Amino acid sequence: MSDNPAWFSDESVIALERIRPLLDAALETDSDRARFFKRLEALFPTIFEMFLNLYGWRYDCHYHLERTLVELAHAFRHRSTALRIVDEGRESNPGWFTGEQMVGAVCYVDLFARDLPGLRSQLPYLKELGVTYLHLMPLFKSPETNSDGGYAVSSFREVDPRIGTMKELEDLAGEFRAHGISIVVDFVFNHTSDEHEWAKRALQGDKRYQAYYRMFDDRSMPDAYEPQLREIFPDQSPGSFSFRPEINKWVWTTFNSFQWDLNYANPEVFRAMLAEMLFLANRGADVLRLDAVPFVWKEPGTNCENLPGVHWILRAFNALTRVAAPGLLFKSEAIVHPRDVRSYMTTDKCQISYNPILMSHLWDALATREIFMMRHAMQHRFALPDGCTWVNYVRSHDDIGWGFADEDAASVGINGRDHRYFLNQYYIGRFTGSFARGMPFNYNPRTQDMRISGTTASLAGLERAIQSGDVTEMSHSIRRILLVYGVVLSIGGIPLLYLGDELATLNDYSFQEDLGKAGDSRWIHRPAFSVERWTRRDDKSTPEGAVYQSLLKMIRARTRTPAFAGADTDFFDVYNKHIFAYLRSGAVLVLANFSEYDQTVAADALLSIQPNLADGAHDLIADQPISLTTDLAIPGYGLLWLDARKRE
Ligand code: GLC
Ligand code: GLC
Repeated sequence: MSDNPAWFSDESVIALERIRPLLDAALETDSDRARFFKRLEALFPTIFEMFLNLYGWRYDCHYHLERTLVELAHAFRHRSTALRIVDEGRESNPGWFTGEQMVGAVCYVDLFARDLPGLRSQLPYLKELGVTYLHLMPLFKSPETNSDGGYAVSSFREVDPRIGTMKELEDLAGEFRAHGISIVVDFVFNHTSDEHEWAKRALQGDKRYQAYYRMFDDRSMPDAYEPQLREIFPDQSPGSFSFRPEINKWVWTTFNSFQWDLNYANPEVFRAMLAEMLFLANRGADVLRLDAVPFVWKEPGTNCENLPGVHWILRAFNALTRVAAPGLLFKSEAIVHPRDVRSYMTTDKCQISYNPILMSHLWDALATREIFMMRHAMQHRFALPDGCTWVNYVRSHDDIGWGFADEDAASVGINGRDHRYFLNQYYIGRFTGSFARGMPFNYNPRTQDMRISGTTASLAGLERAIQSGDVTEMSHSIRRILLVYGVVLSIGGIPLLYLGDELATLNDYSFQEDLGKAGDSRWIHRPAFSVERWTRRDDKSTPEGAVYQSLLKMIRARTRTPAFAGADTDFFDVYNKHIFAYLRSGAVLVLANFSEYDQTVAADALLSIQPNLADGAHDLIADQPISLTTDLAIPGYGLLWLDARKRE
């Protein structure tokens, strides 16, 4: 609800009436006008309010608002009939992305399938896996030697020519949608590469484009900001500003020196980026993954993360795109304190978000074999507003950071700082008895902090087990992979598979020989898709087959179980510190054993979860009945999905 004073709604009506003739002219037909205005009238109060918050202090605020709406009308006019039909379907079914059918996957087009035609030919494989949501890692034009894995975008309107063309991407989105697969593309909106047209003009001295970025003539402002800023890449790109001798200026660069932060205090940037966003929506993107959300707004005297301005920008972008492309969803990439992660998730900001909280707790529970920190965090931090859902994942293309809240750790008696140190040592394999083969990412000698790189299989122990030939360890590592993916596939939200993980893909050390990649250990877990592994996927005697077949079984069990729709998940204490337990939609009980030893859950503990649980349940993974009246035995790293609804 808006807490604006009464005059506000009058002001907003007047503002819209002033712009209406321009919009009438921009839209060609009466039916377009009717549709556009119906949505705009509902959303304009939000748009107006956010615009005033962001730019009300500027003399030209109304001019930019007017231009924004005219540009929006143009984008709507050019939206294809096919996409308008999608829009209408989703408007009448706003929960379309929350069903049990949703199974996500992510890949780099070049590494998974070489190029867009190659990706098209992988459609049968994606369908075999049940994929309905496909995130294509950044595939736009970007600098050749180092582009931060595509996250330094040189043109939002051109696909990297090595991968294909925008037309191919558009066709692919249409074709995949016809097969029930939604396409997710990155909207890298915090920065552009220094080879983007805007950056090039800025480097030539063009003042207008210099104002697109945050530039400083000397160190006084950078020095004032820097002590409060978090260094994201302390090792590979220290500091948050980079000097450019061509223009004798310091440029704000939160990430690498070639990634220039955009200046959203300039309404021209807001408009230009909205146009890029609508361009991608009109090519058929179903979801935009909003990259590095927390960083887009800056204010002196703050740490420049998660500021109110970020929320205003998101609400404005959300309301505007809902007028011209209402079928589009926003996914937030905010790898920050759990409180802030959730702050971006409302239907008027981002409907979906990565769940880095669960991700890091899964790895913590594997290392410690104990689940109470994870349970505590989930009990307090999992629930979401209606209409929003998590994207749950085991690992992404990025490093794993121990993003749990110190206060959550403290409330279960754990010292956050020490525990992070332990987890880092554990996952780089320096802790005695560790099963993991990870690599440090951006070690910061000042704070002793680091994050972890590695594929799921290597972090879960498979690489070590293969090298040592230890058969028990081999089986344990495979069970660990299945356990964490089994949680992700059954907990509330959209499960996201990093393609290759289903074939137990190990670390790839070859990046160390590539100059553009050697300094960034995240490349260790971005290997090229291996056709050899893929051909072994039916052979259960290989790790590839063992993981693949079991994963497929779980995916199929998920998609035929309506209780897995939505995000409703209740977490329970079953009085065993190794067993992570939760109930989905009041119907399916999940029990996950994070220790390698057999564990028991007492029948009484099950009763306390839901007094009216049925006496017997159906084990959805093994597809067999199971009694709930006696104590339940769960083997080491075992996982049960129990349909325990009382039948009439
Ligand atoms: C995001 C991406 C990451 C990239 C960064 C800068 O966090 O996931 O890979 O380095 O943004 O764009
Ligand atoms: C930090 C940032 C995140 C980025 C990642 C890249 O965690 O918060 O946005 O993706 O670093 O390593």
